[in-house]
Amino acid sequence: MDRVLIAANWKMNKTVGEAHRYMVDFLPRLTGWEKTEVIICPPFTCLAYLREALENTGIQLGAQDVFWEPEGAFTGEISAAMLADMGCRYVIIGHSERRHILGENDQDINRKLKAAVSCGLVPIFCVGESLPEREQGQTQTVVREQLEQGLAGLELPNLVVAYEPVWAIGTGVNASPADAQGICASIRRYLGGFQVNDWARDIPILYGGSVTARTIAAFTAQADINGALVGGASLDPEHFASIVRLNSDG
Ligand code: 13P
Repeated sequence: MDRVLIAANWKMNKTVGEAHRYMVDFLPRLTGWEKTEVIICPPFTCLAYLREALENTGIQLGAQDVFWEPEGAFTGEISAAMLADMGCRYVIIGHSERRHILGENDQDINRKLKAAVSCGLVPIFCVGESLPEREQGQTQTVVREQLEQGLAGLELPNLVVAYEPVWAIGTGVNASPADAQGICASIRRYLGGFQVNDWARDIPILYGGSVTARTIAAFTAQADINGALVGGASLDPEHFASIVRLNSDG
């Protein structure tokens, strides 16, 4: 697949003022990035500002979460239709911080994926094993289970999958590119089980977990890794621009 996606997950960082200062620095640095699809997933509170700031830049907007119900008495929640209305094309679903800190389970994630797809959003569906699971040799089983339960009842959705081993998130320790390639290839093989045309071949699979400008090219050089979901290193405009540029040059 020629398509390469580099997505920034800002997590719970940046006020609107900080997002504005970021963009003033970031946008002029992005020359020659045309080969790459850049996605920024800010906190909900920055979506309105970024929708305007990113107009005509080609950069796509994504949210970090969504609720599964379409509307109603769900204090604090945000629906898929609201995100689409804010100009979001993507939404991160099933991030390990939501699974582990906020207690989301596979059934919640399945409902969120369905809600997002039904409103035309493209989910960035996160899967990945914890350190104990990895140490017990359960990586493949855990990831497969997350895929199976998350995608239950969904018909060949327009989708991005992000493989984010939990032990590599925010730790400065990344999976080796070869290891990540192995898991991403098995994710693609699993999706290939749906066996319809080239659907699985065309699903972008991203790696996430301590990606930096130093490591990005080794990941995107892998056959089944089509980009990255970047946390910490996306918060600095100069660093994130160099991740996008390095990938474009490669
Ligand atoms: P870090 O890049 O900070 O490890 O975060 C990865 C991540 O969780 C992206 O969603």
